[in-house]
Amino acid sequence: MVVSKDKVEEILYNYDCRQDALVPILMDIQDKCDDHYVDEETQRYIANRLNLTYVDVYEVSSFFSAINKKPKGKYHIQLCNSSVCRINKKDIIEEYLEKSLGIQVGETTSDNLFTLEHTPCFGACDISPAIRINKKVYGHLTIQKVKHLLKDLRGELDD
Ligand code: FES
Repeated sequence: MVVSKDKVEEILYNYDCRQDALVPILMDIQDKCDDHYVDEETQRYIANRLNLTYVDVYEVSSFFSAINKKPKGKYHIQLCNSSVCRINKKDIIEEYLEKSLGIQVGETTSDNLFTLEHTPCFGACDISPAIRINKKVYGHLTIQKVKHLLKDLRGELDD
């Protein structure tokens, strides 16, 4: 499992093992996982504890893009791919991110520092083009801003 059984049990206890809390349970487990995902073994364990089938849990985790099924980099960069960000030239930001990170959308850097993915609109249209990195939103993006942000995350900024 991606986190210890004790941690999973603690999370289940926090939600009284309620079936209707499946999504927050999976999200909490993911938050506790160093690689930011919920593996099949853990999903099967949760299914068993909530009296659900593995297929039930799998379908829910597949439906919610915020629940990761594969390990992610330390920084999970989600680039909005919806209409307002597209109109506001998210392609330029995407091209720069891919070039700078040396990966394509959907991939993780070999040092496991960054994962780059598309995501549907997350409500930051007023500051588009926008990205979300480990739940924090950054908007009004320019290449200069993204360059600075990546330097910061790589620990390359002078104090
Ligand atoms: S369209 Fe990109 S945040 Fe809404």
